[in-house]
Amino acid sequence: KKVVLAYSGGLDTSVIVKWLQESYDCEVVTFTADIGQGEEVEPARAKAEALGVKEIHIEDLREEFVRDYVYPMFRANTIYEGEYLLGTSIARPLIARRLIEIANQTGADAISHGATGKGNDQVRFELGAYALKPGVKVIAPWREWDLTSREKLMAYCQQHDIPVDFSSKKKSPYSMDANLLHISYEGGILEDPWAEAEEEMWRWSVSPEVAPDTPTYIELTYEKGDIVAIDGVPMRPHEVLEKLNKLGGDNGIGRLDIVENRYVGMKSRGCYETPGGTIMLRAHRAIESLTLDREEAHLKDELMPKYAEVIYNGYWWSPERRMLQAAIDETQKNVSGVVRMKLYKGSATVAGRRSDQSLFDESIATFEDDAGAYDQKDAEGFIKLNALRLRIAAGKGRKQD
Ligand code: ARG
Ligand code: SIN
Repeated sequence: KKVVLAYSGGLDTSVIVKWLQESYDCEVVTFTADIGQGEEVEPARAKAEALGVKEIHIEDLREEFVRDYVYPMFRANTIYEGEYLLGTSIARPLIARRLIEIANQTGADAISHGATGKGNDQVRFELGAYALKPGVKVIAPWREWDLTSREKLMAYCQQHDIPVDFSSKKKSPYSMDANLLHISYEGGILEDPWAEAEEEMWRWSVSPEVAPDTPTYIELTYEKGDIVAIDGVPMRPHEVLEKLNKLGGDNGIGRLDIVENRYVGMKSRGCYETPGGTIMLRAHRAIESLTLDREEAHLKDELMPKYAEVIYNGYWWSPERRMLQAAIDETQKNVSGVVRMKLYKGSATVAGRRSDQSLFDESIATFEDDAGAYDQKDAEGFIKLNALRLRIAAGKGRKQD
């Protein structure tokens, strides 16, 4: 028997390696990916070897992550419950896919992960896994074992000679998850929704109060809804996001503190840092404002909350997600041009936008003489006919308030 484990190299998933070997008497294959979490992934190799793992997969998935998951999601201006940019949610389908591909390659019939039984991540990993390999067996140690506290976990390490350096690193007081799109913080003092996050918690951004007093201007070039260059320099998707994270973080952009509804039913308080994503969301709306038809734009906006929920709840690998994606991508054909952004003390504002595909017509919109481009008399009938049903109702004495 063989099981592929999503392995971070940290204490928890190291314990899981041993626990799987013991409880299931199986061979563990580890999979560790660089998706821009900002930690070296190569050390996971020696750690896995020390735990007796023979098949170790370590991959750089940064470009794929941004190109095939983050970018498609941003074409829809996706946000969950009006605020969350889905940084963790959007990484899970990629991990699920690689787990299954590695299972197929290595002849494993099971996958395993380190998500708890209380959260969204278990749902996302497992829905993805089942969608891609219907007969797969899923092992979720956190739902099975009795290592329910830090102390029990440590004791398990001692008993099983799990090398000390796994546990020596000072444990962050938060449950964190990081990738190129965001860092999330949950747990610890954040479990009290009234308690303000301490300044030291934030890792990617300075606080807006201490951000530079002079604004930073940047130009983002869009092609079919995706950023392809910054300040005229062509970049690959993950390079774009890396650069925007740096610029955004330096200017105090992208901090968020929310209480959200988890798919499993509970409310959860989380803090998020999404500097690059926050800039991208604003800028993308700006280029769309020039290039999309009104009805197309409005319908797209109606679909967005549904699309966000599909991703949040873990249904990336589903017919409804593909259906929505096809509609969203169809709208992006003409979403090309340049947006000029001003980054300043926590805010990312639009300073200008231009596009060869622009539908903005100055000769029509002008407050000056439009030389007959628009006949103001047409507006009279337009308004009167639209008011017809209102006038009929009022004429028949219907109450209007
Ligand atoms: N609440 C966020 C979400 O559901 C973040 C989850 C963070 N996950 C983690 N393993 N720390 O997408
Ligand atoms: C977890 O429970 O493993 C993290 C939080 C989440 O998945 O929502």
